[in-house]
Amino acid sequence: MFITFEGTEGCGKSTLIQNLSHKLKELKVPHIVTREPGGSTVAESIRAVILHQEMDPLTELFLYEAARAEHFKTVVEPALKKKQWVLCDRFTDSTIAYQGFARGLPLPMIEKLNQMATEKTKPHLTFFLDLPVEIGLSRASDPNKFEKAGIDFQKKVRKGFVTLSKQNPKRFRTLKVQNKNPAEVCTSAMKILKAYL
Ligand code: TYD
Repeated sequence: MFITFEGTEGCGKSTLIQNLSHKLKELKVPHIVTREPGGSTVAESIRAVILHQEMDPLTELFLYEAARAEHFKTVVEPALKKKQWVLCDRFTDSTIAYQGFARGLPLPMIEKLNQMATEKTKPHLTFFLDLPVEIGLSRASDPNKFEKAGIDFQKKVRKGFVTLSKQNPKRFRTLKVQNKNPAEVCTSAMKILKAYL
């Protein structure tokens, strides 16, 4: 299983991934936890360049895709070949939402690059953690440049994920996380994952 986690800033993806990993360990399901941008030595170096510096949107897109190509080939693909589950914090949908819907780059170009970086691999399941952007932003302690870009930017990102979830109803599972504690969110996600165990 290749499972990705998407959402706007501060939606609780990282906590959910940790909690799910804990449950999968108890159930003895071999898996890895990884993230984008990053997850491998080269991709983590690219991450350090992208997250805190302003740059041309096309440069930004290429850097995300470069990090993805490296991470996909050195981490995701080998794990899937070994039949390990892969839990990945953000993936190609983030590029559509952030660089496409929010930055305004053409979606067909992004889709092409996403396909090139991942050998056309799609996640089996994508959890979209949906939280009002105002609440998520108020949680940011060390804001990156996307968090600093403010509410209107985050609303465009959210619109991207909502659109993607409607276009990919089989792959996407939307979890409404407002007023839910981490344990409740984890229980909802595990109910969905039980079908694949
Ligand atoms: P991170 O600090 O990991 O944020 P979060 O905890 O919200 O995931 O930084 C990742 C940032 O990179 C996040 O703001 C979303 C952005 N991003 C893109 O703009 N495009 C992409 O393709 C990906 C994978 C992430």
